[in-house]
Amino acid sequence: MTSVASNSPLFTLTTPLYYVNDVPHVGSAYTTMAADALGRFKRLQGYSVLLITGTDEHGLKIQRAAKSTECEPQAHCDRIVAQFIELWKRLNINYDRFSRTTAPSHKAIVEEFFQRVWGKGDIYLSQQTGWYCVSCEEFKEERDLIHEKYCPIHTQKQVEWRDEQNYFFRLSRYQSQLEALYQAQPDFIQPEARRNEVLNFVSQGLQDFSISRVNVDWGFPVPADPNHTLYVWFDALLGYITPLLDPESEPNLANALSNRWPINLHLIGKDILRFHAVYWPAMLMSAELPTPERIFGHGFLTKEGRKMGKTEGNTLNPFQLVDQFGADAVRYYFLKEIEFGQDGDYREDRFINTLNADIANDLGNLLNRTLGMAHKYFAGYVPQGLQPSGSYQDNPLPEMGARLKERVTRAYDTLAFSKACSEILAIAQACNKYIDDQAPWALYKQGKLDRLQEVLYSVLESVRLAAYFLSPIVPGISSAIYQQLGYGVDFDNLVNCLEVAPFKDHSCWGVLPVGQVLAKPQPIFQRLESSALDGSHSE
Ligand code: MSP
Repeated sequence: MTSVASNSPLFTLTTPLYYVNDVPHVGSAYTTMAADALGRFKRLQGYSVLLITGTDEHGLKIQRAAKSTECEPQAHCDRIVAQFIELWKRLNINYDRFSRTTAPSHKAIVEEFFQRVWGKGDIYLSQQTGWYCVSCEEFKEERDLIHEKYCPIHTQKQVEWRDEQNYFFRLSRYQSQLEALYQAQPDFIQPEARRNEVLNFVSQGLQDFSISRVNVDWGFPVPADPNHTLYVWFDALLGYITPLLDPESEPNLANALSNRWPINLHLIGKDILRFHAVYWPAMLMSAELPTPERIFGHGFLTKEGRKMGKTEGNTLNPFQLVDQFGADAVRYYFLKEIEFGQDGDYREDRFINTLNADIANDLGNLLNRTLGMAHKYFAGYVPQGLQPSGSYQDNPLPEMGARLKERVTRAYDTLAFSKACSEILAIAQACNKYIDDQAPWALYKQGKLDRLQEVLYSVLESVRLAAYFLSPIVPGISSAIYQQLGYGVDFDNLVNCLEVAPFKDHSCWGVLPVGQVLAKPQPIFQRLESSALDGSHSE
């Protein structure tokens, strides 16, 4: 992991804590890839990043899943957690903390938090009646049900009737404070459409929600009344606080919140927006703690145009995808081809076309042929192509490169990963055009060596810059490009390069050292062929 100076600015972000009712699917992978890309970008900028991911392990849904496999709940959770950890490894996710809601330290944090809210008088006992979706772990309004008994999200799952005593959280008390938060922090909920959704929901009036269950064993006992267990969402949201504890420190709120609170960004899917943008800040307000800076709700993935789901029988197995195409290709497809925030579709043909066009052709062939020419004409050294006064003629690349940092930073900061990729690709495309226009082979024949040097230098440097800015998304490919350009850089392990050079300067154009020894060209990405698919990763 990157080492950073102790005075580096902090950036802390989270993925949701995933349910462990089953092995991870591509929806969970999607949020995590996005979080990892942003975390990596922030690290490049010199931030001390803490990326938190983890698992949400309590509640009826997990209790039933364990029972169906005839496993003890904890053993079931441990088995599924191992799958998440394995997938993050294969997808090259650089997370810093893995938050498990069954951790003993989490129990201590949850109890202390509960006592604070209890002490505020925000918890009371009452009767809960209503329709419950176990898959959502959420009560549903009767008017939202499909065919009177099915959940609108889990359309194959029947809701269940509940009529029982529960402890309730006084959400209604926080309506105006929440509305003031949304006004004071217009960026609190993103994108804009999700913000409007939340504002609209809150303006209709908030109802208290139940935070305990009487017939669920798999959960923390309610501190004030052990006949109840805590509602899984109350416990799960606090799972963003526990991993802030340093491993050796006492598990209490003061220690957990001493360093990185409030969290800068919660990345979530749109289905769990209400929990994060309404319930969570209200819980924190009750406990008199600062609220997070930003919540971003992304869209849903579909496959070949259809909603993905186990009941629909068309889930996409992320392990198989990575085995078949490699981590970088999977990361690139989902972050480039789907506008983050919108729903998006996975299509095999589009996957292949995108990777071949952008990575194999625009970037890969470009590097390959330019390195080939550098070997042929300049014995494999980076040629002297920098113009001392910056006076480049008929050469769009230096200016484009100089502008790239600002554009790409804006894109990453607004989580517009697709835009970041297009901005970066644009310079690769400009390089290809520039080579075709300049025809270096003709320059060589005509003996125009100064010009030839400038062309090759400009292209090599632009490819380096593209690789640098793409590294949060395709770290493996970016490392391969850097290595062929003669750097000993591995974007998965930036400690060394931070020590060797002020790596931040690599975001500017013109840093490739003249005279650096270039490696022999190797394809950075093998073209994907349709025949390689053979349908084996789709069921
Ligand atoms: N356990 C809760 C989160 C608690 S956070 C304190 C949960 N878990 S989940 O495993 O069901 O979902 C985790 C994330 O995966 C959610 O952000 C959800 O939006 C996302 N996705 C699940 N299916 C998805 C798609 N088909 N497409 C994109 N993301 C989807 O909710």
